[in-house]
Parts: sequence; C-alpha cells; structure tokens
Amino acid sequence: MFISDRILVLDFGSQYTQLIARRIRENRVYSEIYPFNASIDKIKDFKPKGIILSGSPSSVYEQNAPIPDLGIFRLGIPILGICYGMQLMAHLLGGEVSKAAKREYGRAELILDKENDIFKDISSKTKVWMSHGDRIEKLPNNFSIIAHTDNSPIAAIADSRNRLYALQFHPEVVHTIEGSKILSNFIFNICGCSPTWTIKSFIETAKHEIAEKVKGEKVICGISGGVDSSVTALLVHQAIGDALTCIFVDNGLLRQNEALKVEETLRKNFNLKIICIDASERFLKRLDGIKDPEKKRKIIGKEFIKVFEEEAKKIEGVKFLAQGTLYPDVIESTSFKGPSATIKSHHNVGGLLKRMKLQLIEPLRELFKDEVRLLGKELGMPEEIINRHPFPGPGLAIRCIGNVTKEKIEILRKADAIVLEEIKKSGLYSELWQAFAVLLPVKSVGVMGDERTYENVIAVRAVTSLDGMTADWAKLPYGVMENIANRVINEIRGVNRVVYDITSKPPGTIEWE
Ligand code: XMP
Repeated sequence: MFISDRILVLDFGSQYTQLIARRIRENRVYSEIYPFNASIDKIKDFKPKGIILSGSPSSVYEQNAPIPDLGIFRLGIPILGICYGMQLMAHLLGGEVSKAAKREYGRAELILDKENDIFKDISSKTKVWMSHGDRIEKLPNNFSIIAHTDNSPIAAIADSRNRLYALQFHPEVVHTIEGSKILSNFIFNICGCSPTWTIKSFIETAKHEIAEKVKGEKVICGISGGVDSSVTALLVHQAIGDALTCIFVDNGLLRQNEALKVEETLRKNFNLKIICIDASERFLKRLDGIKDPEKKRKIIGKEFIKVFEEEAKKIEGVKFLAQGTLYPDVIESTSFKGPSATIKSHHNVGGLLKRMKLQLIEPLRELFKDEVRLLGKELGMPEEIINRHPFPGPGLAIRCIGNVTKEKIEILRKADAIVLEEIKKSGLYSELWQAFAVLLPVKSVGVMGDERTYENVIAVRAVTSLDGMTADWAKLPYGVMENIANRVINEIRGVNRVVYDITSKPPGTIEWE
C-alpha cells in the first residue's frame, strides 16, 4: 500500500503547532502532531523523515518545562526547532538560554549571515514574525549563527553536519513572507521528502482501508447535513457501496430546506441509501418548558442518540458506525482543542457503540477541515454543500432564547432563511464564518400602518472567524442590514423589530446560548 514520506511535529503547546502541520501538508508531505513527551518508540513507529519542534508558552529554564525524549537526537534524521524548539535544542545540546531584556513580538527583518540549505533561494533580507521572550546566550556545540535581526543577534542557527536547524522566528505564519519556502527547504532539500501526499492518494488509501476493515459487513452513518458527515458518508459509500446505510434525523430544529437539500443531493447524485426520520414532534415535546441552554443541549443530544439507535437496530447485522471525526478532535494536546472537540460531545455515541457492539470507522480522523473540503470536492460534492457555514447540532433550539415552541421555531426559521438569502445575494456568504437569526424572549412596541404592535424581536448575528475560537462581528454593509430588517418585518408575522449584534468573541460567544 502507498505510504508517503512523513514529517513529525512535536507539540510543546504553541498556538501555531497545527499551522506547522498544515503548511507541511500544503507542500504535499504527510505530517502529524504528537505531544512533546511521545516515547521514542512511538516516534520511530511513525517513521518520520524529519522532526519539527514547535514553539511553546514555556521557557526552557522553568522547572516543569516540556522536554522531549532525548532519543530524537540519536535518530540521525533532520530536526528543525522553531522558537521554543530552538531554545530547547540550544538548552539540550550544550548551549545557554536566558530571559531577553526585551520581549520581541511582531515583524522583524531577518538578515542572512551565511549560506545554508534551509535558506536556499531566500532573499538576503526578509520579513519574519517574532514572538519570544527568551534568547540564546551561548550557542550549543557545533552550531553556527546563520541569520540575525536587529533585536536578535542569534535568529537562526544550524549544525548542518548533523542536520540540526533552529529558527527564532515562526516560518509557519503568513507574516513570515518566505516562511513556506523555508519549511519546504527543510522537508524537501534537507529531509529528502517527495511531494506525494495528495487528496487523491488519500482517497485511494482510505477506500482500500475501509473496505479491508469492513469486509462485507454492514455500516451505518448518521448524516447531519454538515460537510464532515456528508463527506464521510460519500467516502465510505465509494468504498463499500450499498453496505452503507445513512440515517438522517430531522429534529425539527433545522434550517429551512438546508439539511434536506444535502440529503437530496446525496441520494439523487450519489445514490446513497438514506433513511430519513422525522422526529420533530419528539424533540419539541422533550424541550417543552426548558429554558436552560445546557439542558436543551443535553436533551437534544440524548434524544438524538435514542432515535438513531432505534433506527439503527432496525437494520439487521450492522457491525460498524462511520463518523466524521476530524484531526483537530483527536490530536493529543491540550493547547488547541478546536471548538469541535466540545461540539461533537453532543453527538457522543460512546454508549451506543457499546450497546450495539459496533466498531467505529473514522476515515477523516487524519484530516484538517480544509482538507475535508478538498476531499469533498474531489469526490464530486457540490460547492454549495462543501462551503456551508457550520450549524450547531442543537440547531435552532439554542437560537430561540428561553423556552422553545413550534411557533417560535417557525418564526426563527423564516427569519434565518431571510438572513441567509440576503447574505448570499450580497456575495458575502463565503467571507463569513456564520450568519444567522436569533429570536429574543422580549417583545417590543411598534407601529404598523395605523396600528400599535407589540411583537417579537429578531437579533441578526454575522461573524468572521478562522476556527470559531475567536470571532469578530461582521461589518455588514448598511444596505444588506436594511434589506434583512425590511424583509424580516414585512414577511414574518409576529416580528416588529430587528437588531444587529455587534459583540465579538471574546467576550461574547458566537451563539447566544
Ligand atoms: P460559541 O457560541 O461557543 O460557538 O462561540 C463556537 C462554534 O461552535 C458552534 N456551537 C455548537 N455546535 N453543538 C454544535 O454542534 C453545540 O452545542 C454548539 N454550541 C456552539 C457555534 O455554532 C460556533 O460555530
């Protein structure tokens, strides 16, 4: 079977660790992240052609500073230290590190002092991104300085004979203009990797692995309408065909047409076997009178599992459950658990696996979100599905503030549809992380015609974000806001006021509940 060259990233807790792995994969070399204390045996099993030591909020001279297994320096493969990774190499290999008089944060000009493979074809003066409070006082044995900045006389060092390299700046962030080239110098020129890891090669390997594992048994997969579960279902279907049955639970808290559209696409365009369950009444009944957001989440999560299990049991002889877990959910690190780590908990199927004696298939567990999108595209999934905004599992229930009723959900669903329509019309959809309506539990006075009204308030929320962890409220053009407000009030009975949420995250959250 095809196995591409691999680079291992050891994570010491930097906010940029994931970015390093992604940059390497963008160069079509497979990369994984292991915690800093991974054992040397585990590291050897991965068969890396090179190792990158990430940055960290720690200092090497602190008592509990994260230290890797020193065996990595005896593997004879190239190692690149970044920021803390650099100081760590200095500290562990005979140099000295101390607190810098001045913290250096932001852009700096790197001036190359010596020719070196890691700087092949890099300009002699180039902009880099610095973020550090420590500096190297004494070089480790066999190392020499290969670049400096005004503030850091030792900004890059190398022991080329032993293929050890270290950078004080962050090549993985876009502010380091030639950072991607520096990383590719490391993985191609120094580690000797070939750029063979592509989504196409991933698909072939994944299909083969799924078929091998399943061996003709039956598989079920829950589809939610989101990109992760849709792509999972499509990939598994291409591997094993009709041995896969998908289950789609309509909890009555979905957006207008949206999830149904996905279901239709998967069924019509790709011939997936899908069982659709309209469980809206059940969910609404359970939610009756519940105001507390966390209770809503728990109820919806529990009910989902129940409905799903009931349906799954009707399919005879099921042995596997396919699930769209992504790489950020499984990386063994506490420094960057993506929002999906907690999000997925509501679809926590641990109990179900046990009760039904099912085994898990998680074909996307090595992929980042943008890679899942590429995969979906490669499998022929329409852009419209691939680039959909995230939608929370508890759906409209956590956007209907306070208690949830069928009538309120109807109002909210209509308002939400108008918000999305207008955003799409304005061409801004792909620039936003999410855009939606929230139904507030207050009434306000208005006038319509000659009549005084006393009706509901809709809040519109639109945010930009890279990963949902932090977000900025979107500065929507006034014209777009105006169209939304006019349409919501004119077209929806029971709403007489629209407000726009201008809170960023933090301190706000994206959702209101
Ligand atoms: P917050 O509101 O925490 O949201 O800023 C961050 C991201 O997570 C989504 N979200 C959820 N997704 N179940 C989900 O599947 C949930 O309970 C949930 N709560 C928040 C939210 O839409 C945003 O993308």
